[in-house]
Amino acid sequence: MASYKFPDDFLWGVATSSQQIEGGRHEAGRSESIWDRFASIAGNIDDGSNPDVTCDHYNRYREDIRLMSDLGVDSYRFSVSWPRIIPEGIGAVNEKGLDFYDSLVDELLENNIKPFLTLYHWDLPQILQDKGGWANRDIAKSFIDYTQAVVNRLGDRVKMWSTHNEPWCITTLGYEEGHHAPGLKNPAEALRVAHHLMLSHGWAIDVIRRASDKSEVGIVHNYCPAYPHSDSPEDHDAVRWFDGFFNRWYLEPLYNGSYPLDAIEDRVRAGHLESSELPFVEDGDMDIISSPTDFLGLNYYSRTIMKKDNSGKAVAVPAAPKEELTDMGWEVFPKGLYDSLINVNEKYQPKKIYIAENGAAFSYDADKNGEITDSRRIAYFRDHLMNAQKAIKAGVPLAGYYAWSLLDNFEWGFGFEKRFGLYAVDPDTQNRTAKKSASWYSGTITSNSVED
Ligand code: FCB
Repeated sequence: MASYKFPDDFLWGVATSSQQIEGGRHEAGRSESIWDRFASIAGNIDDGSNPDVTCDHYNRYREDIRLMSDLGVDSYRFSVSWPRIIPEGIGAVNEKGLDFYDSLVDELLENNIKPFLTLYHWDLPQILQDKGGWANRDIAKSFIDYTQAVVNRLGDRVKMWSTHNEPWCITTLGYEEGHHAPGLKNPAEALRVAHHLMLSHGWAIDVIRRASDKSEVGIVHNYCPAYPHSDSPEDHDAVRWFDGFFNRWYLEPLYNGSYPLDAIEDRVRAGHLESSELPFVEDGDMDIISSPTDFLGLNYYSRTIMKKDNSGKAVAVPAAPKEELTDMGWEVFPKGLYDSLINVNEKYQPKKIYIAENGAAFSYDADKNGEITDSRRIAYFRDHLMNAQKAIKAGVPLAGYYAWSLLDNFEWGFGFEKRFGLYAVDPDTQNRTAKKSASWYSGTITSNSVED
């Protein structure tokens, strides 16, 4: 048995997001979000559910912080619901909406848990979507007003800030493929969306730093490593295409101040751009987007295997037998985390990296004593953490790990059927039950190591 020891100052955490756990749909002046609207349209959420109540964390946050204390986490990554803060999208700040986060942050600090705040984890006020959402450059400006309101109130106590969670998901799932709110299918507009997200990220950095002394500011990207199906040049080109579309489109502007040329050409060929001139980029934008950050947050869940089909199109190949997939249909591939960390570190040299999300959905049956033995989740965490530790040994400046997620929650278009939590949540009683993985994670945090 080998032991994989983490550095003494390694941050252990759990992650959630506002729309997925808070509920409190109408509390204290909160307005409608794009996910409230999206979920109200029949057929959009697989199990027909909506996020009105979810885990009722809005009312139960103290209990949930006790669960975090039981786990022994050093840090909690959560997001703020924009429709609580500026319900009209523009104009008045709703101090009552901020009160909730104020109390949450105080309670975390009293329990010695460092708050790691994400400003945008997908719950845009619907009223801003009615003006075009992220496809409208003015929304990036509204994001700055929202950022200012949050940082003015919480910046004295919150010292870890992420602007956006997963710009690729917002862009492609929301505006290009329509699986996520706002449910649009417009690839040309999606490129605008990506640009405005990254631009608003860049603008926000300075706003946060000025109002939150000695804070760390970054962004969270969902990194997906791609591997070729065969050694053919075509399959290698499919990998290049995927990496450009999914990873480099965001990371190159961030670290190099430019969009990847090959991926621009791919978009021109696909008819999403008229030419390689990007019509939405204005003078100075790329300098703003590439403003130095303090860390890069990476969310890692799985990999993709790519090939070219008979028509020359890059397509993903179903990766693995069913037993190796999670309930999301995602292959369990822990080495992909190691490869991702090494690649990102070599290419972009972020000052620091956090794994801002990592986890797996598995359904469960409680035994007759009500115990939930989620062995596959434990194995998932253990194997990924071993790979994370190896990457640290290889020189990657990985400073922390956030398990997704504290609670079973509203998994976007899938509803409540996909269960990622360390704790199960009974939808009728809202009772939380620790799964076996919770005590396993807690032991890992205490020993600051994993054993294979
Ligand atoms: C990520 C999201 C998070 C959750 C996990 C499973 O893409 O950031 O909200 O849905 O996937």
